[in-house]
Amino acid sequence: MRVAILISGGGSNMEALVRAMHKGAVPAEPVLVAANRADAGGLAKAAALGVPHCAVTGKGAALEADLIAALDAVRPDLVCLAGFMRVLSADFVARWPMLNIHPSLLPLFPGLDTHARALAAGVCVHGATVHEVTPALDAGPILGQATVPVRPGDTPEALAERLLPLEHQLYPAVLSRWIAGARGPFLL
Ligand code: GRF
Repeated sequence: MRVAILISGGGSNMEALVRAMHKGAVPAEPVLVAANRADAGGLAKAAALGVPHCAVTGKGAALEADLIAALDAVRPDLVCLAGFMRVLSADFVARWPMLNIHPSLLPLFPGLDTHARALAAGVCVHGATVHEVTPALDAGPILGQATVPVRPGDTPEALAERLLPLEHQLYPAVLSRWIAGARGPFLL
């Protein structure tokens, strides 16, 4: 199973996926980390992990064309989005099986600023979701979720800090189940 990972930022979820593959917890090989920003911190992490990596920095159709070229060159069986902050077209999404991690308990809070919106909504439980990517944003079939409590006085930053370590467990666990053929709900 050849896995490519798309990132935009720090790449901590990418790192968790790669480490799980390297230690055999996920039976897959990381074949490429591609970032849509040259300054994505995750590119240095990919280098340190010894994973081929590149920055693909165009916009819109050019971004997708360049990403397709980079991905086709490594023949992935699966593409994992890990903090990739660009919406992809239906044509792009149809090219490979694709998973995403989203920092909310979908179907609540699709889109941006999930932690602030969860706090504004007054929910007591928040979390993250790994789902299959479909053309509709953050709306593909749910494969797994992890939850955290919301505490009095929480800020978006505090919630993110509480949740991120669970994301790092959730994504590899769901990927491993997905490779084994499991598609049902999984609660970390
Ligand atoms: C994570 O919270 C992820 O759920 C969201 O963006 C953040 C990326 O963090 N999609 P990192 O780049 O993996 O550190």
